[in-house]
Amino acid sequence: MKILIINGPNLNLLGRREESIYGKKDFETYLSELKDKYIEDDITYYQSNHEGEIIDMLHNVGFGEVDAIVLNAGAYTHTSIAISDAIRAIKAPVIEVHISNVNAREDYRKVSYIAASCVGTIAGFGLDSYRLAIEAVKTKK
Ligand code: DQA
Repeated sequence: MKILIINGPNLNLLGRREESIYGKKDFETYLSELKDKYIEDDITYYQSNHEGEIIDMLHNVGFGEVDAIVLNAGAYTHTSIAISDAIRAIKAPVIEVHISNVNAREDYRKVSYIAASCVGTIAGFGLDSYRLAIEAVKTKK
């Protein structure tokens, strides 16, 4: 399967950012482990700190370029009607992912503007949340 992982704002700092919440591993290291595990799949990765760039990427790949999108929209999860609309607009299924358990954190993190536009949500399993999302996508297929 062709699966694109999209990470939103501040997730380029994984491994250096609030390690007690997000862990010590950078995403590039994790991604190469993920690619080794899913050697038969085509896993690609995009990160942006900019809402419009995330929307552009969803538009660019969402009409046949990939089979599924694993999206950690970071803080845009809790604010972005525009990303939610983009997910609804495209054909590719989108899985919402969070490293931390957003429901066990501040109240504003308990609100997701994108959840209802996604096929499902995986949160709280650390970086393993991404692998679980891929498993979900592959099982659903
Ligand atoms: C996050 C949770 C968000 O609330 C936060 O803004 C992030 C990361 C997570 O993966 O746990 O940047 O999406």
